[in-house]
Amino acid sequence: MGRKLEENKELFNTWATTYDQSVKKPTGVLEDYNTSLKTAAGMVDHFNSGRILDIGIGTGNFTELFVTPETEVHGLDISDEMLKECQKKFPQFHLTLGEFPNIKYQNETFDLVISSFCFHEIPPNQRNEACREIYRILKPNGYALLLDIMFVSTQSRNQAEAEVENWDPSEEYALVGDLNDMLLSAGFSNVFWRQTAKYHWCVCAKKNGEKEDPPFKE
Ligand SMILES: C[S@@+](CC[C@H](N)C(=O)[O-])C[C@H]1O[C@@H](n2cnc3c(N)ncnc32)[C@H](O)[C@@H]1O
Repeated sequence: MGRKLEENKELFNTWATTYDQSVKKPTGVLEDYNTSLKTAAGMVDHFNSGRILDIGIGTGNFTELFVTPETEVHGLDISDEMLKECQKKFPQFHLTLGEFPNIKYQNETFDLVISSFCFHEIPPNQRNEACREIYRILKPNGYALLLDIMFVSTQSRNQAEAEVENWDPSEEYALVGDLNDMLLSAGFSNVFWRQTAKYHWCVCAKKNGEKEDPPFKE
């Protein structure tokens, strides 16, 4: 069973001031967090200008890897304390308190939508909508880059549960194949995967213009 929104807010509000310290040498499912952020960012290493949205931005550690003089960074998070920490580090970021996928961004606003270690916080029954919302707010030819704790099969997830100390049964990690299907049905046509650490996968999906209807059959 996943955590309720209020429980999540409290968890991340409480964690905010020590978060950066705890991800310096993380253990458990977050092991190799820093390597994963860098490897994931490398999947769009040609990206150096445009408007970015980071969903579940936390203290800004993923977005930081995309900052150039030509990028404009927006961040969304349910935790005001995380946002405070982020704003202290990056006064130039445009931060919004809010809950994905309930968002008010206009269609085709962003060139790049990123998210790290947040997708599993979205309840499974809202994940299709989450993919559709990412597609909607991306400009044509924009990219989605989603990094998270994920598994290729239920078996590999169960294996991780058996070997990881302090496994949290309230976290509902996605399966790679399920998220792949959700992205395709949201309209993405180019979907590439990379395993960035033992328990981490990153997907890069490109929005090629408008979603096309299947050809008519006479
Ligand atoms: C594990 S932290 C990851 C933070 C950051 N992306 C990183 O990689 O360090 C998850 C973040 O997602 C936020 N979050 C959880 N559920 C969310 C939701 N539905 N919408 C927006 N943010 C959410 C939390 O408040 C927290 O800051």
